[in-house]
Amino acid sequence: RIAYVNGRYLPHRHASVHVEDRGYQFADGVYEVCEVLGGRLVDERRHLERLDRSLRELAIPTPMTHAALSAVLHEVVRRNSVTDGMVYLQVTRGVARRDHPFPPPGTAPSVVVTARRTDRAAQDATAAKGVAVITVPENRWPRVDIKSTSLLPNVLAKQQAKEAGAREAWFVAPDGTVTEGASTNAWIVTPDRRILTRPAEGGILRGITRTVVLEVAKALGYQLEERAFTVAEAHAASEAFITAATTVVMPVVRLDGVLVGQGVPGPIATTLRLKFHDFSE
Ligand code: PDD
Repeated sequence: RIAYVNGRYLPHRHASVHVEDRGYQFADGVYEVCEVLGGRLVDERRHLERLDRSLRELAIPTPMTHAALSAVLHEVVRRNSVTDGMVYLQVTRGVARRDHPFPPPGTAPSVVVTARRTDRAAQDATAAKGVAVITVPENRWPRVDIKSTSLLPNVLAKQQAKEAGAREAWFVAPDGTVTEGASTNAWIVTPDRRILTRPAEGGILRGITRTVVLEVAKALGYQLEERAFTVAEAHAASEAFITAATTVVMPVVRLDGVLVGQGVPGPIATTLRLKFHDFSE
C-alpha cells in the first residue's frame, strides 16, 4: 500500500508524520472520507468544498488547490489499485514546537492521503440483514459541523457499540432527540411513511451522503421532514437507517436491543440504498 505524505508517495509502513505535528499533539486538523466506486471519487467536489469549510472554520491555511488535491486523491487511489473502496484525506495545522496557540504564520499544513478497498459484497450482505444501533448521551463539543479529527467521544461511543454487538452509536441530546451517529447521520421512517432526519444546522455534521439521500428521496416522491426525532419516535418507527460515505445507506433493524419495525431492512431504506449512485456525482 502507498500513502501520500506532504508531497511524497511512500510505502505505507514508512508513511509517517513528525512527532510535533499538531494533528498528533492536539488533534488540530480536519479530514474527509470519500467513497471510491469504479475508480471514481463519489461526490468529490462536495467533499472538497466541505474540507474548505472545515479549514476555514478553524483558520487552517488551504494547503493546495482543489485541482492539486484532486490529482493527489486520484493518484493514491490509482497507486493502491482501488476500484471500490474509500480514500481518506487529512489536513492538520502542521509541525511546530508544542504550544497551544496557532504556530507562526507560514507553518505549512500537513497533508496525508490514504486509500483502501472495501469488500462491497460483504457490505451488501450486511445491508441485506441490517445493523444494530445503541444510544449514548451526547457529549461532544458544539462544533460538530466541522469535520475535525478530534474524535474521542466518537471513538468511545463506537467502542461501546462494538462491545454491545452494534454497528453504530446514536448520540442523544439532553432533550431526548437523536443528533447523529458516531460516524454517520441518523434517519427514521415514521409509521405514516415520512422520512425524518435532523436539520443540518442542528448539532450534526452535514453529511454529503445525507445531502444526496435527501435529493434521492425527493426525486422518488417520498415525504420528507428535516426535523429532530426522539429516541421514543425511533422506537415507534417502521424503519431506521444510517448514512455515510463509508456505508452509503445502511438499514438499522435494532435499537438498544429492540427491533425496529419488523426487524428487517425496510423498503424505503433498501430503495434509497439501491438508487443512491444514480444521484451521486
Ligand atoms: N464519517 N456524522 C459524522 C459524525 C461523521 O463522522 C460522518 C462521516 C457523517 C456522514 O458524513 P458523509 O455522508 O459526508 O460521509 C456524519 C466518516 C465516514 C468517518 O469518520 O469515517
